[in-house]
Amino acid sequence: MSAKPVLWLPRRLSDAAIDRARRDYDVILNDADTPGTAEEIIAMSAQVDAMMPCHSEHFSADVVSQLDPRLKIIANHSVGVDHCDLPALASRGIVVTNTPDVLSDATAELTMLLMLGAARHAVRGDRLMRTGTWDSWSPSFMVGKQVTGARLGIIGMGRVGRAFAAKARGFDMEIHYFNRTRLPPDQEQGAMYHESVDTLLPVSDYLSLHCPATPETLDLMNARRLAALPDGSILVNSARGAIVDEDALLNAIESDKLAAAGLDCFKIEPGGNPKFAAHENIFMLPHIGSATTKTRDAMGFRALDNLDAFFAGKTPQDLL
Ligand code: DGY
Repeated sequence: MSAKPVLWLPRRLSDAAIDRARRDYDVILNDADTPGTAEEIIAMSAQVDAMMPCHSEHFSADVVSQLDPRLKIIANHSVGVDHCDLPALASRGIVVTNTPDVLSDATAELTMLLMLGAARHAVRGDRLMRTGTWDSWSPSFMVGKQVTGARLGIIGMGRVGRAFAAKARGFDMEIHYFNRTRLPPDQEQGAMYHESVDTLLPVSDYLSLHCPATPETLDLMNARRLAALPDGSILVNSARGAIVDEDALLNAIESDKLAAAGLDCFKIEPGGNPKFAAHENIFMLPHIGSATTKTRDAMGFRALDNLDAFFAGKTPQDLL
């Protein structure tokens, strides 16, 4: 019997995914569950045939140039691949895959939580309850913004954007979107297409970001674009921190241009932006969009499906 391929799991995946990985691969698991450093990635590349990293492991051009030729495939346990220099990996002949589809609903659910939490003062309300300082009630107490029937702008109508739009339809939102290409009518389902972000922004009482982080989308939501939103609008970001100019967002919050923001992603992760913490109308979560048991199992399995296909001499379904 031929030896099993050797697989490095830099992070502790779900138990179900680890059990399945151990069945078909010789697994080297970083039980400490710390992000793989550049040095670890480079050293490990000489010991393994495959890696299953998360967005916390960075394959920069410099790291990629030092990878050992033994490494054949990086089967990412993530849909986003902005942590991978894809042209550099392609030039080294290393196969790269991701895990689309399986996390769309979990991420869309969390986006809904961000939108609702930002709209209805979840941070302040939670603080009042926890600190025992809820001492009054009046008709004007903690009045927020209504989601039902409001206008929602979506930038990026890929799988997660569409899953979020489906949930927003349950709130009778009027959906507008910008995407590089217009969706076919059966996927649009009444959502109004904008050829440019510039026409989308003024009709977005809520704006939700679902595009990937690329050089083109870096700081997409800058001071100029934030200013183009309606006064008192709410920004939601469950995609990537790189898409938002955080200083411009802070100014928009401090000047009351925006009523609130709901953020699951930050320029610096882990940690986030400490300047946001002073503002209770910024509802923040620590990059947990896909963090449900069902979805984390599915992400692990999808990454393993890609590995299995590759080692069976087939084309992985999520080949990038
Ligand atoms: C993804 O899959 O890209 C999520 O952000 C979690 O890593």
